[in-house]
Amino acid sequence: MLDLIIRNARLAGQSETVDFGCLDGKIKERRGRLDMPAREEIDAAGYLVSPPFVDSHFHMDSTLTYGTPRYNESGTLYEGISLWGEIKPYLTVEDVERRALLLCRWAVAKGSLAIRSHVDIGDPALTAVHALLEVRKKVSPWLDLQLVAFPQDGYFRDPNAVSLLERALDLGVDVVGGIPHFERTYDDGRRSVEALCRIAADRGLMVDMHCDESDDPNSHHIETLISMTAQLGMQGRVTGSHLTSMHSMDNTLADKLLGLMQENEVNAIACPLINITLQGRKDTYPKRRGLTRVKEMMQRGINYAVAHDCVMDPWYAGGSHDMLEVAHMGLHVGQMTGVHETADMFNAVTVNPARTLQLDGYGLEIGCNADLVVLQAKDPTEAIRLRANRLFVVRRGEVISRTPLLESEVRFMGEDALTRFSVSEFQ
Ligand code: FE2
Repeated sequence: MLDLIIRNARLAGQSETVDFGCLDGKIKERRGRLDMPAREEIDAAGYLVSPPFVDSHFHMDSTLTYGTPRYNESGTLYEGISLWGEIKPYLTVEDVERRALLLCRWAVAKGSLAIRSHVDIGDPALTAVHALLEVRKKVSPWLDLQLVAFPQDGYFRDPNAVSLLERALDLGVDVVGGIPHFERTYDDGRRSVEALCRIAADRGLMVDMHCDESDDPNSHHIETLISMTAQLGMQGRVTGSHLTSMHSMDNTLADKLLGLMQENEVNAIACPLINITLQGRKDTYPKRRGLTRVKEMMQRGINYAVAHDCVMDPWYAGGSHDMLEVAHMGLHVGQMTGVHETADMFNAVTVNPARTLQLDGYGLEIGCNADLVVLQAKDPTEAIRLRANRLFVVRRGEVISRTPLLESEVRFMGEDALTRFSVSEFQ
């Protein structure tokens, strides 16, 4: 007896549909027609089935604080940082938990079952760390939450950050973060990357730094991050987030750095919703886009992802935690409009970030975790075009979210009857 059968599911690139059979939290069967009993059956009706979305870069401690205690008047990154500094002293464990749990519900309903969230360790009470460690435990049955110790005000620039970061890691935070471009001097930034990578290597942890989130073409701390990856043998376990300066830097230097990233298996994460709004603010016209070079990363085989970063916080007023909205923006800002590029943008919110987070059992093969999403679309490109409705979200063989089929009823001019139609009708 299976736990769940998902009938008539369409795999990307295949014309025939398949049935998925789930047992004990795993994908047990995957073939044309399953003739087996199951406790529950759902019908994917020929729609696309995908592994779950993965948000590889988020800030769960600040999410859903929009307008508290005031709005970001300029809409800039640096006013966002100072506004967050005003909010931090008033954080409580209960408030952070409440907002984070609400955000996790939104994420699950949109098909995201793994999130890597940075958590600011600059508060001497580590309020947000304590809260998000509790949230990580509470959501674990339905969502993998990975936490990054993030020294928002600078690892050396904030006099308390060195010891607070160690304390956060001692408490069980998963990944070592950093923000080298925010240190006082360029040399402090370089030293912070070296120190933080050594801490990660000593503790056997991964690294994910806010790196070169700047329009300054001379900001290339990614070079030190790559070098430390090589020196410490951390290939595949180090990630550069944002990397926006790469948009502005000299092509020769960017080319060299991209080659080194590929050679040392350094992952990249771009945040298109946020950086299209925050970067280029000092430009008149033309204004730079400020997204890192995702197209060139794809061409070189660098493991790149696009991520949400913020939802309704001091830096960004928008969002609903929808990874298809992120992919949609990434596609536009990165000019990923070639047929294969668009399809690859879907990988940038699924398989690529799953690799960055080193998620076990991720995928749609037999033996993988029975975690999947049925989208009201026929293929990944249509899913991005429509920011498709998520019909079913399955976690470990159990349906944990469902949304009705999206249809409209329209009375066209000169017609008596309503015509029911869906924008995702098969051609
Ligand atoms: Fe960020």
